[in-house]
Amino acid sequence: MCGIFGVVNDKSGDAAKTVLLGLKRLEYRGYDSWGIAVQSKGNILIAKRAGKISEADDWKKLPKSSIGIGHTRWATTGAVTDINAHPHFSTDKSFALAQNGIVENYEDLKKSLSKKGYKFVTQTDTEVIVRLIEDELKKTAYLLSAVRNAFLQLEGRNTIIILAKHSGEIIAARNGSPLVIGTNPQTAEIFFSSDALSFAEMTKKLIVVDNGKIVRCSDNRVELFDIKTGSKENYKLEDIKIEKSKIDKEGYDYFMLKEIHEEPFAIRQLIKQNGLDYAKLASEIKKAKTVYAIGSGTAGVAAAQTAFYLREIAKINCISLVGADARDYYNLFSKGDLILAPSQSGETADVLEVLEYAKKKGVKIASFVNMPGSMMTRIADYKFMAQAGPEICVLSTKVFVSQIVWGYLVVKTTVGQVAEAKTNLKELAKKIESYLQSDSKQVKQLAKKLINSHDIFLMGKYQNYQIVREGMIKIIEDSYKHAQAIPAGDLKHYAITLIEEGIPVIVVMNNDKVKSDINNAINEVRARGAYVIGISPEAHENFSLHLKVPDCGETSAVMNIVPLQLLAYYLGTMLGHDVDKPRNIAKSVTVK
Ligand code: G6P
Repeated sequence: MCGIFGVVNDKSGDAAKTVLLGLKRLEYRGYDSWGIAVQSKGNILIAKRAGKISEADDWKKLPKSSIGIGHTRWATTGAVTDINAHPHFSTDKSFALAQNGIVENYEDLKKSLSKKGYKFVTQTDTEVIVRLIEDELKKTAYLLSAVRNAFLQLEGRNTIIILAKHSGEIIAARNGSPLVIGTNPQTAEIFFSSDALSFAEMTKKLIVVDNGKIVRCSDNRVELFDIKTGSKENYKLEDIKIEKSKIDKEGYDYFMLKEIHEEPFAIRQLIKQNGLDYAKLASEIKKAKTVYAIGSGTAGVAAAQTAFYLREIAKINCISLVGADARDYYNLFSKGDLILAPSQSGETADVLEVLEYAKKKGVKIASFVNMPGSMMTRIADYKFMAQAGPEICVLSTKVFVSQIVWGYLVVKTTVGQVAEAKTNLKELAKKIESYLQSDSKQVKQLAKKLINSHDIFLMGKYQNYQIVREGMIKIIEDSYKHAQAIPAGDLKHYAITLIEEGIPVIVVMNNDKVKSDINNAINEVRARGAYVIGISPEAHENFSLHLKVPDCGETSAVMNIVPLQLLAYYLGTMLGHDVDKPRNIAKSVTVK
């Protein structure tokens, strides 16, 4: 996955700079290389390089221009090198192209193009698209038709953006990876991007391009066509609604810390939401034959926690699935089923693929998304927005909190306890706020203590099992250490072999139904010399260190994630990692 950006009619006259600013906002989508192409005096010029765009300055050499495209890369096919960075030139330099996605049949296409005499200078699948368009241009004089014909031969989820030399136009086509267009009627500027956030400050109107559509734009005209039929279609201009949280660090060292501090805000945003939408979804849940909750990564954990709430509070069965591993449920999906799908971006390919399949089988979908204009929101029957404000850190923190709180609210609505839920959530927001304001010295000290640990174990059960899984994800992402979350009772069945003197075991517990089971697990690891860190409202004789958290009753699990997020943050920063952009991962994963 990657980010693409483009501008037409750039009023500053410095399209390269505008594209650069757009790419900086898309950096969360990939940050191993970047590239910008502009058109000036009938020529296209490209600056591109391996490395982070925030460290780039080659773009300054590009001439002043009013039209340009750019790309920020997360390598899939082809190593991270200058030459593999996008955009890629056509042989005659009449156009430049960038892709977000994967061409799954690129090897076959490359073979047949090579047979025809085309030469390849990069190792990317994207260059195959360039040569394919060149080949199609032998059959038609129209770039738009050539792009359409080439695009139809691609397999996989991909979105492309092309800057053309002669006509001074941008063409973009979408199949899978996101594509949105922003228009500013005052300035006549038009923006292309992978997300609406990147141009939200420049325009307030948005066109969400659906899969299977191709867009051409020159001067101040946007035209949309169906890729298969080639027929021109109307499009809808929508308002961009971005929450007030700004896209800067506001004094925090990292977005991650800022976003953890925004968790009370994220909770309050949900308390304010329209109860009618929740009531409609609750009634669908009660009618549904089978309810599934699905997500990937952190959102997969949130889906599992929602499923927990549904089983435990509403006594309704709910199966939670991980996006990338739901294939064996395809046989089971049928009309009358319902899928709950939390996703920060609303664009995660692993989840979208399942939702698209399920929708065809008549399954209803309820999405919970933070990013406006996403594909998931478009295909959902019940659409919920987190309204948590932009989450810039690649690691999800405030949106995870928002996702599980949404799950809790939906479930409480199902059992007619909305008022109680809102009271609990108001209390929770206050408690998280004061926890965050209080000195987090203890968590910092713990991070210092764990800095040289190779393995960190986490145990939880019942309401806290998904919380330790999420804690594990955060620790792995920030510290690059091995962390492992285990259901507390399962530890004795295998992982206990790894417990020896001084091994850190973090246990998250509340005074709930499973307290005595957790007690046993604590005693068992302590007896083998583990350094037991307890995250709990109450002390325990076998805690080596007690991180006291407030008791939040039914919403305790939400509270308990906060110290784990902070621990991951301190571990990462103490180890000198860029916690906003950990190595090898990206925020919006639009490839499978
Ligand atoms: C990536 C991110 C995770 C995120 C997951 C799902 O793997 O690194 O932080 O949880 O994608 O993303 P989504 O946008 O669907 O929540």
